Amino acid sequence: MDFLKDIAVPQSLEHFHLLVLVSTISALVFIPYVGFVAGSSILSLWYDRKGRREQNALFLQFAHDLIDGALFNKTLVAFLAVLPGLSLVFIYAQILQRTPSSGVSLAGFGFLFLVAGLVLLYSFKYTFRVQDILGSYQQLLKNQSRKQEFENAASYQKSNTQAHLRSGRYGTFFLLAAYILYSAAAGVTANPLLWDLDSSVELFISPDVWLKVIESVFISIGITGLGILYFTFSGKKQMDRTPDCSSLAKIIGTRFSIIGLLGLPITTLFNIAAISEQAATGPNYALASVAVIFFFLSAHFIYGYTKLLQPAALTAGFALFFIAAGALIVSSNLALGTAARQQLAVLAFAHDKSLEELKSSLGVIAVSFTGEEIYTTRCESCHLFDRKKVGPPYQETVPNYQGRKAELVSFILHPVKKNPDYPPMQNPGLKPAEADSVASYLLRRIAAAIPSGDKK
Ligand code: HEC
Repeated sequence: MDFLKDIAVPQSLEHFHLLVLVSTISALVFIPYVGFVAGSSILSLWYDRKGRREQNALFLQFAHDLIDGALFNKTLVAFLAVLPGLSLVFIYAQILQRTPSSGVSLAGFGFLFLVAGLVLLYSFKYTFRVQDILGSYQQLLKNQSRKQEFENAASYQKSNTQAHLRSGRYGTFFLLAAYILYSAAAGVTANPLLWDLDSSVELFISPDVWLKVIESVFISIGITGLGILYFTFSGKKQMDRTPDCSSLAKIIGTRFSIIGLLGLPITTLFNIAAISEQAATGPNYALASVAVIFFFLSAHFIYGYTKLLQPAALTAGFALFFIAAGALIVSSNLALGTAARQQLAVLAFAHDKSLEELKSSLGVIAVSFTGEEIYTTRCESCHLFDRKKVGPPYQETVPNYQGRKAELVSFILHPVKKNPDYPPMQNPGLKPAEADSVASYLLRRIAAAIPSGDKK
């Protein structure tokens, strides 16, 4: 994946801040949503298998609802997971170019896993539906006692179930791996002290990376719990679940919310303690405190909901959790902006240099001043065409260079002693392209002034 860093072009200072902004927005969408999908698919798979083992229709229904809820709409999946995931890879490549950091590889493989995971989970979701249809078909055949056809349907059902569980298992695995890789990439990118560690072993024992991953896991657990509660019980969005299924959703949702809401303030405190001095700024601490306070408020509302069962409390709890998690994500991106000062300087310098190179390769400098402009600003103080000033009049000297422009250019670039009546000319310090255009200008003007008969 390091090739991505090689194709990146160094950016200017403004561009860098823009990148940090875009990466913040992408992470704000990506981390909560993919965390929700990861949590929901693990739960869904778990209850799917449990339901089959124990022949429990309620568990199966719950499993089905979970994966349906997480992958509700393909367009949203594209906008909430795939696009931000892809832009994070490119932004990390842009920020980490010219460093040996493995952040880009982590995110790059994360993206591949993400796509594989999503495709497999979609197949998990659809085979669920096929199962339902096959189930009722089998029932029908059984009632009509069509034995042979029933057998066929049963064997098809069996292989479908196998494919279903397999895609669920691999899909969940890939998605979880993607989520963890992205979190580690964010942890690495936000901390320049880790950029020089190209050995992954060192990275994997770095507490900063672990803290970031643990934080993401708690965000995933919390958002899954709150999401289940929210989408099941908050007014409009109510899923039409059987009362049994709703109470299962309530138990699981509450349990997950509590784990997330307890775990996050603790990891945040650890994170703050561990944040590298280079990266820490006032706003970092402020955001982390905001996050901790909002997690507590969210916990308060969720607790209130379980007592009073008011959907409004649930909505408030969900929103507060979202804001708190957002504050954590913004805070680590902010750390990136401040911590990367040195990298910023290196890249901005490289940017200016490559811009210069680009300009001169396009000949932009040669046209940036005309020969006449150079003459009036750099030569006229000592030279006129028809009269002597500090230097000799061009009428006398320039005709000698007619047809030998290269020599004139070379004289302008490196003046040498010529005429004993004058002091030596000092180097006017022009760039080659500038000397070339002023020489052309002088030769053109002299040629136009001299009647053609006098020309040698
Ligand atoms: C500070 C005054 C000064 C400036 C500015 C200056 N010159 Fe000169 N230039 C001189 C002097 C003095 C001589 C005479 C040097 C000699 O003969 O050794 C001279 C001589 C020349 C000659 C005659 C060379 C020859 O073969 O006899 C050319 C052509 C010339 N300058 C071009 C330029 C051009 C083009 C510029 C502007 C980019 C420029 N000069 C700027 C002082 C200046």
